[in-house]
Amino acid sequence: MPTDLQNTTTIKIVVLGAAGGIGQSLSLLIKSQIHYMVRGTQSDIRIHLALYDINEDMVSGVVADLSHVDTPVTISAHYNDGLQECLTNASIILIPAGVPRKPGMTRDDLFTVNAGIVSQLTDSIIKYCDLSKLFILLISNPINSLVPVMIQKLISSENNGYGIEKRLFGITILDSTRGSTFLKDTIISQKTSSGLHNMEMPQVPVIGGHSGNTIIPVYSQCPAADNLSQETINHLVHRVQYGGDEIVQAKKGKGSATLSMAHSSFKMLTKFMDLLLGNTPDITITSFISLRDSKNEPIAQGSIELQSRIQDLQFFAIPTEVTLQGINEIKYKIIDYLNSKESNDLLPICINELKKNIDQGLNFHKSIK
Ligand code: NAI
Repeated sequence: MPTDLQNTTTIKIVVLGAAGGIGQSLSLLIKSQIHYMVRGTQSDIRIHLALYDINEDMVSGVVADLSHVDTPVTISAHYNDGLQECLTNASIILIPAGVPRKPGMTRDDLFTVNAGIVSQLTDSIIKYCDLSKLFILLISNPINSLVPVMIQKLISSENNGYGIEKRLFGITILDSTRGSTFLKDTIISQKTSSGLHNMEMPQVPVIGGHSGNTIIPVYSQCPAADNLSQETINHLVHRVQYGGDEIVQAKKGKGSATLSMAHSSFKMLTKFMDLLLGNTPDITITSFISLRDSKNEPIAQGSIELQSRIQDLQFFAIPTEVTLQGINEIKYKIIDYLNSKESNDLLPICINELKKNIDQGLNFHKSIK
């Protein structure tokens, strides 16, 4: 229960970058839906949604607007030097702060700007948060490089020693959201037998990274895709890898995926809320994580096995079991069950690209010294 786990009956959810496309939609979902997760026996629990953005006018307006939504979730607006008040006693922080992609830009083009923003926010998190209990969900892109940027700051801080590296998650769930949606659409349009009911969605595991060909949709481990041709699967894989481009082009340069991302990150948040509320002792999630801790030791059971299969990469998106203490077990066996196309074609390309993305992130602090 939060009283034991948080030393308070309040669960504080913080969104940094709350006035943007993702931030606004995500905040609406939280304000309007999250209280449904609190059970009858948890009547002493309060939920506080704290929204921060450098855009003072917009974040104030968003909070004024959301404050009229008739749910018992407390909401507050923070801007400029209000970061300390926003972050103090945070239970979980979601970070969509940054610049989104424009047409023709890759996620990696965003790196320099967003690395600076995320790095500064990390300094404040280290200063104002209790790292021993905190969960951080990073949404800003490029995830493959920004998780390494954040990890380096977090583990080198004086506030270190709390295992925060086990509780930092790069959010990649939009890839499996897309993988499942595109598969369902294909099953319907091709009238393929899939074993699914009309209102049932397939679950497509996605591992690797969160940019172009670092994304590995594992259709071989989704029974609903069994009756599709290899050509169709190849098309689906490519569509998931570059699905973000469809949105950037459709919005004609005025934004990237915001609504589907807000939906996906809210799904992820609800899993963490189940942990914080004590509804379950552990959750299984897929996200982009560090496989080593602050002492360069394996971060959890299964880290060594995974690293031996991915040329010792330090970061990877993989299913994990997570408890209140953080990542507890890495479900590395998914790699052993890849089919030949996935393991011989997709995985080597992913590893090669991911290595460069990770190095870019790890070198960021050196480059600005
Ligand atoms: P947006 O431009 O609409 O919103 C970003 C917000 O961040 C703005 O309100 C801006 O004022 C704020 N911001 C900028 N610097 C800040 C700082 N230092 N502190 C606090 N707030 C700050 O962008 P959008 O569409 O919401 O995307 C946000 C990020 O999420 C982008 O980096 C984008 O690439 C990424 N993204 C990630 C996805 C994922 O699957 N992980 C999917 C889609 C987008």
